[in-house]
Amino acid sequence: MSHPDPRPLRASAPSAPLAGRLGVPGDKSISHRALMFGAVAVGTTEITGLLEGEDVLRTAAAMRALGATVDNTGPGAWRVSGRGVGGLVEPADVLDMGNSGTAARLLLGLISGHPLFAVMTGDASLRRRPMKRVTDPLSATGAQFWTREGGRLPLAVRGAADPLPIDYVLPVASAQVKSACLLAGLCAPGTTRVVEKEPTRDHTENMLRHFGATVSVEDTAEGRVIRLEGQPELVAAPVLVPGDPSSAAFPVVAALLVPGSRVVVENVGLNPLRTGLFTTLREMGAALRIENERIAGGEPVGDIVAEYTELSGVTVPPHRAPSMIDEYPVLAVAAAAARGVTRMKGLAELRVKESDRLAATAALLAVNGIKAEIEGDDLIVHGTGGAIPGGGTVETHMDHRIAMSALVMGLAARSPVTADDAAFIDTSFPGFATLMNGLTAGAPLAAP
Ligand code: S3P
Repeated sequence: MSHPDPRPLRASAPSAPLAGRLGVPGDKSISHRALMFGAVAVGTTEITGLLEGEDVLRTAAAMRALGATVDNTGPGAWRVSGRGVGGLVEPADVLDMGNSGTAARLLLGLISGHPLFAVMTGDASLRRRPMKRVTDPLSATGAQFWTREGGRLPLAVRGAADPLPIDYVLPVASAQVKSACLLAGLCAPGTTRVVEKEPTRDHTENMLRHFGATVSVEDTAEGRVIRLEGQPELVAAPVLVPGDPSSAAFPVVAALLVPGSRVVVENVGLNPLRTGLFTTLREMGAALRIENERIAGGEPVGDIVAEYTELSGVTVPPHRAPSMIDEYPVLAVAAAAARGVTRMKGLAELRVKESDRLAATAALLAVNGIKAEIEGDDLIVHGTGGAIPGGGTVETHMDHRIAMSALVMGLAARSPVTADDAAFIDTSFPGFATLMNGLTAGAPLAAP
C-alpha cells in the first residue's frame, strides 16, 4: 500500500564524504505533547522548535477541533491558548489523525476524561494499527468505545462524565499507552497509577510536572510505578522542543557509513530513555561523541559528532528496545555494513508500527543483497564488513522510517537504492532530502 501520489526517491553513493553541521527538526514526541498540554492548560503556552511535520500538524488541527486556539506565529513557533483541564469541547467533525499512532492514542486518553462524543480515523497505515491497547485500559475510566473489528480505527468514543482514575500494569512497553492512561487521569479525581515493567520515554511525566501537575515515579520490584494526582490545575508554560534523536539517527548513521565523513548534528534531545541507538552504535565501535551537553527546556540536549568508522556486529539486548524502538531500521542499515553478525533481540513491537517494521526492515536488507533472518522476535543481520551491494527498490509501506533508512543505505551502497515512496518522510522529517544533500556534493538523493 502506498500514498495516493507516491514520490519515489533514490540515493546513490556521494562523490565526496558527508561533512558539515546541521540541525534536525523538533522532537515528535515532545511536539505532540506540547500541543496537547497547552490545550488543557490555563493560559497561553508558547512553543519553540515545534516539529512542523504532518503528524504533529494533525495534533494541532485536532486540538483546534476540541476548542483550543492554536496559532503558528513563526518558523517552529506556536502559541496555544488552553481551555483548562476538563475544558475540551465536542468536535464538530471526524478527527483524522493521518499516519500518527502517537496522536491517535494520546488523544484518546485526553478525550476519555471529557464528556464528549468524537469519531477518529486515520490513513490506511493507522487504520491497521491496534487501538485496543488503549481502549481497554481507558474503558476503566467509564469512557465507551465502538471500534472496527480488531479494535481498529475508525472508532467512536464517548468520554466519561465522571471519569474514574485508572490503575494499570502495562502489558507491553509502550509510552503511548502509558501516556494515554495519564492523560485520562488528568480529569479523574484521585490518583491514576500506571506500572511499566520496562521504562519507556518519560516526556509525558516531565511535561505534566512542567505544567504544574504532581507526578511521582518510583522503581519497585513490580516495575516503574507512576502516579498522577488527578484534576490538577495545569498552567501554561513555555516549551522548548529539542531536535529529535530519532531523526538525528539518519545523518548520524550516514556519516558512520560513508568513508571519510564527519557530521555534527546540533541541539539533539538526549533523554536517556531515547538514546539506545547511540549506545548500540558505540558498542559497534562507532566514533560518536557528544559535545556541548546541557539542559534545555527541562531535557538533556547536546551536539552529536559522528565520524566514519568500520563497525562490528553486536547483540542488542531486548531490554534496550524501548529506548531505541524507532531506530531499528536504521540500525539494521549500520549492521549491514558492519563486520560480523548483529542480533537485535525482542522486537515484537516493531510489528505494530507505521508498518510491520520487522518484515519491512528484513525486506529492505534482502532486496539490497544483505543476508538477514527473522527468528521469533529477533532480527539477525549478516554484515558485509564493507560496502553494501544495494541496487534494490525498497517497499516503504507508508512508513517514513523505512524510507529514510533505505536512502541512508543508498549513500553507503555500491549501487543506488530506491525508496518506492518518500512522501511519508514529511510526517516526521520535512526537508530530509535537502538536508542530506546539503552535507555533500552532487545531490545523491534525487527522484529516479
Ligand atoms: C512514542 C512512543 C513510541 C514510538 C513513537 C512515539 C511516543 O511508541 O514508537 O514513535 O511519543 O510516546 P510506543 O510507545 O507505542 O512504543
